[in-house]
Amino acid sequence: MSLLSYSSYRNLPAVAGIASLEEAMRIGLSIEDCVLRLKRQHWMLRRLHETFIKRLTAEPIYELKMIFSLHAHYCAEHTGAWRKRVGEMREPPLGLDHTPSAALDLVFEELLAAPTTEALLAGVYAIVLPELRSSIQHHMAESNRLVDHPTFRICRFALSEVDEMIQTGNACIARLSTTESGSQLAPWLAFLRELLSNDENAPLPPRQFSATPAPFDSVPRRDERFQDSYNMAVHAEAFLYDETMPPEPKPLMLYYKRLREIDVPEMMASIIAETPDKPWAYYVDMTRQLWDEARHAIMGEVGFVRAGIDWQKFVQVNFTWSLALNTRLKPLERHAVLYFIEQGLMPKTGKRFEWEVGIASGDPYSAMIQDYDWADEVLHARIGRDWFVSAIGDSKKAITYGDQCWSGVLRDLPSYKTNGLTQNENWWPALYAEWCRVQGHFPNSRVFGYSTGYDSTRADLADISASS
Ligand SMILES: [Fe+2]
Ligand SMILES: [Fe+2]
Repeated sequence: MSLLSYSSYRNLPAVAGIASLEEAMRIGLSIEDCVLRLKRQHWMLRRLHETFIKRLTAEPIYELKMIFSLHAHYCAEHTGAWRKRVGEMREPPLGLDHTPSAALDLVFEELLAAPTTEALLAGVYAIVLPELRSSIQHHMAESNRLVDHPTFRICRFALSEVDEMIQTGNACIARLSTTESGSQLAPWLAFLRELLSNDENAPLPPRQFSATPAPFDSVPRRDERFQDSYNMAVHAEAFLYDETMPPEPKPLMLYYKRLREIDVPEMMASIIAETPDKPWAYYVDMTRQLWDEARHAIMGEVGFVRAGIDWQKFVQVNFTWSLALNTRLKPLERHAVLYFIEQGLMPKTGKRFEWEVGIASGDPYSAMIQDYDWADEVLHARIGRDWFVSAIGDSKKAITYGDQCWSGVLRDLPSYKTNGLTQNENWWPALYAEWCRVQGHFPNSRVFGYSTGYDSTRADLADISASS
């Protein structure tokens, strides 16, 4: 029988539809070759995750913070898939927690030390991710799709997200780079390229940006649209819970609460960055939650735009929560505060209530986002139980510890107003007036006069449901 005369039953797709017979007969990679490649790709994904996490808090540009949050999530998930696959290929000890290449590590140390956003973007999206893409593409082309289908499959899935990351990153580079910054960076980018193609036995060239160590910067920064980052003048929760206030304008407070969640990725990134040596599943879960919180912020932004409101002009989004936690607490204490707040969001007065407010307001967008925000919060409570409660011992101790850490921060917080960092201007009346103008509503004088701020209710923890 020749290949030409063989056919499947009634010419149905052979090889389960994943390859032609010719492709299935080809000699692909050995396990050894496959694992070598997987380990290098794994290390790239893992260190890309680290790079996004370590740079998002101090990155001022809001859109980039959100993009880094998503790309960190993608890289954490694919790193997990790569680890699982290597574990299936009779390779113990897996050696997944050691670098496969000193030159590769130097690339990532250079990225972490990149002195500007432009340099970081160019290094990640124009050099490292394209190198990863080409490595995955070659791997897929050279492996036997039948014999090593599990590897082929994770590569195919990762490739679609690697492509998306490169596309998004290139769009950022195109908007932010100047000809001057581009030409200044050229020698450094060539240096990174050379390191990536380095022969393992070649001596390492001298460091460039990483010659000066770049410690993780946990102080949150915001771009110029965030003019009053210490403003605590508008107490969203007190307004939402006030049953005497009409429901129609309440989505504005929901959108504000969501947008303010920019501070959760800023804070969670610092926990992840400063908590080494956990099982990889910890980083996958924590980074998924970090991306969810970034999504919640974007949902608030979109909600404002959908309502015809220019949030950049009318809303003051503070960063006091991430700033206080990142600069005053240790990583486990920050996790304790997050857990304590998220547990408080689960009872009837928490996320379900916000969803009900969305429904009652008659604004379908706020109802939809609160529906999903509630579901995400249930997942986050599970993540808190799996990783924080298990680290503390039991849930009662975990809550008490979270309460202590949070109360301590609140007690010791400086008065931003007294220190001259904000005038605590009440921005609510102008926002509400603009919403009435755009939506054609007649302003309600009680709503317009709302002036409860966080200062007056700080002592009551239940009223200060911050973020998440
Ligand atoms: Fe959230
Ligand atoms: Fe959350």
